[in-house]
Amino acid sequence: MNALARVRELLRAELRQQAPYHLNLWHLLGGLTLFLLFLEITTGILLMVYYRPSADEAYESVFYIINDVQLGWLIHGIHGWGAQLFILLVLVHVLRVYFHEAYRERELNWVIGVVLLLVVGAFAFTGTLLVWDQKAFWGIDAVRRVIADVPVVGKAILYFLWGGTELDANALLRFYVFHVGLLPWVAIGLVMAHLYLVSRQGIFHRSGVGAQTSGQTYGDVALRGLLLVVLSFGIVLTLAVIFPVELAGRADPLVYQSVKPAWYFLPAYGLLKLVPKAAGVALASVGVLGLLAAPWLGRNSWVAWGLGMLGIAIIALLAAYGWRW
Ligand code: HEM
Repeated sequence: MNALARVRELLRAELRQQAPYHLNLWHLLGGLTLFLLFLEITTGILLMVYYRPSADEAYESVFYIINDVQLGWLIHGIHGWGAQLFILLVLVHVLRVYFHEAYRERELNWVIGVVLLLVVGAFAFTGTLLVWDQKAFWGIDAVRRVIADVPVVGKAILYFLWGGTELDANALLRFYVFHVGLLPWVAIGLVMAHLYLVSRQGIFHRSGVGAQTSGQTYGDVALRGLLLVVLSFGIVLTLAVIFPVELAGRADPLVYQSVKPAWYFLPAYGLLKLVPKAAGVALASVGVLGLLAAPWLGRNSWVAWGLGMLGIAIIALLAAYGWRW
C-alpha cells in the first residue's frame, strides 16, 4: 500500500469511529473560528503583495488594491468582513465554553484562550490603522491619548507600540510589523497549543468525556462542520460583494475628525466615556483578570451563571453607552 492509500485508509477509519453523543453544533464553533483565522491569514498575505506600510504610500496602495488590482476589492472586502465574523465567532465560542462550564479541568486551555482573545483584539486594533484614512487615524489616535494619560507606564507603552508619543509613520510601520510579522505567529502557536490540549483532554461533558455514543460518527460531525464552513464563507463573500469595504478620506493629522470605534471596541469606548481615562484602563484590566480567573471563580454553577450574566449585562450597557455617546 502506498503512502497516499495509507493516509486515506487511516482517515476513513477515523471518520467511521463513533463520536460522543454530546457533540453538537455548538462544538463546531471552535473549528469554524479556525477556518476564519485561516481565511484572514490567506487574504492578508494576498493584500501584502500590494500594500505599502509607509505614511506616504499606505492610503494610495489600499486605494490601488480596491480600484485597480484585479479582484483586489473582493480580497480586501473578504479580509474586512471575515475579520468581523471571526471576532463574532470567537466571542460566541467563549460564551459557549463559559456557559457549558467547559473550562472545568481545562484551566490552562481557558487561560490560553483568553490570551488568544487578546491577540484577536490586537489583530483588529493594529489592522485598523493600516488603511491610513481619517477614520483609522483619529480612531487610533484616541487610544494613543488614553494611553498617554496612564500613570507611570503610559509613556513606555506608547514608545513600545507607537514608536514615540505621536501617531506618525513610525507608528504605522510598527503596527504593520505587529499585524503581519508578529501576531499571526503568536496566534498560530497559541492555537496549536489550544488544539493540542483539546485533543488530549477531550471535549468537556459533565458526566465524563465521550462515555456514550448515539450512532453519529466523526464523519457526520465533519460533514456538518464542512457545511458550516461553506455557509460562513458564503456569508462573508455575499457581504463583501453587497457592502464593499470602503475608504474614508486620506489621513490628515491637521484635520481632526471624531470617530466611533467598530462594534467590538464599543464596550471599551463606552467605559472610557463614562469614567476618567486612567480609571477606565484600570477597570478594563480588572475585567480581563476576572475573565482569566473564570475557571476558579465559577466553580459553583449558580455563581458561574450569575457572574456570566452580570458580565454580559455590563458589557452590553457599556456598548450601548459608547454607541449612544
Ligand atoms: C482563534 C481563536 C480560537 C480558536 C481557533 C479556537 C478553537 C477551538 C476548538 C476547535 C475547540 C474544540 C471544539 C469546540 O469546543 O468548539 C476549542 C475548545 C475550547 N476553547 Fe477555543 N478557540 C479559540 C479561542 C478561544 C477562547 C478565546 C477561549 C476562552 C477564553 C477558548 C476556550 C476554549 C476551551 C476551554 C475549550 C475546551 C472546551 C471543551 O472541552 O468543551 N477558545 N477551541
